[in-house]
Amino acid sequence: MPGRPANGAGCTLSDGQYQLAEHARAEGLQEEGELRELLAAVDEVRTSKPVFLKVAPDLNTGDHERIVRAALDHHVDALIVSNTTISRPALKSRHANETGGLSGEPLKGLALAALRTFSNASGGEIPLIAVGGIATADDAWERIAAGASLVQLYSAMVFDGPDIGRVIAGGLAERLQREGYSSISEVIGTAA
Ligand SMILES: Cc1cc2nc3c(=O)[nH]c(=O)nc-3n(C[C@H](O)[C@H](O)[C@H](O)COP(=O)(O)O)c2cc1C
Repeated sequence: MPGRPANGAGCTLSDGQYQLAEHARAEGLQEEGELRELLAAVDEVRTSKPVFLKVAPDLNTGDHERIVRAALDHHVDALIVSNTTISRPALKSRHANETGGLSGEPLKGLALAALRTFSNASGGEIPLIAVGGIATADDAWERIAAGASLVQLYSAMVFDGPDIGRVIAGGLAERLQREGYSSISEVIGTAA
């Protein structure tokens, strides 16, 4: 879907990000130059809205550092970790062998691992937004502790309905109080 106009706060160029993630997962992001070329093109058309770069969880060793460096050089405002996976963790479904991106619970471990790797690779130099298999307050907490400043839900909204956001926010507030924190920002990166 390249070229579709983007709009909405925090959604700048989301289609472009998806396209990049598709490329990265297909090629293992072997060609750093292509990523830089794309980010340079984004730089040329950017407005005052933030630009987020969304990445696949299916990356090779070293890709994370290269992506962080390119994102910093091109003033990307945050990394979204991660998109769906093309890998197939053990699935019981009869649809297990279908092609395409897998989301939700089976993606959870991969997305968390990718977040941790990006957290270490970036050393706090670029904000991280976590997505992938987040369905409970504890899932959200784990991502924040791993370095995310923001969490995003997709599949959980399909399975649990739109109220899931409020349930998770309530659960996070309870846990903050239970563990003696005064703000969620104190939790960011505590278990990176
Ligand atoms: C049906 C479907 C469509 C999606 N479309 C997009 C998209 O257009 N752009 C994008 O960046 N991510 C897209 N995603 C990825 C989600 O935003 C999210 O990163 C992924 O599903 C992992 O989160 P989850 O486990 O909470 O679903 C899509 C996911 C699904 C399942």
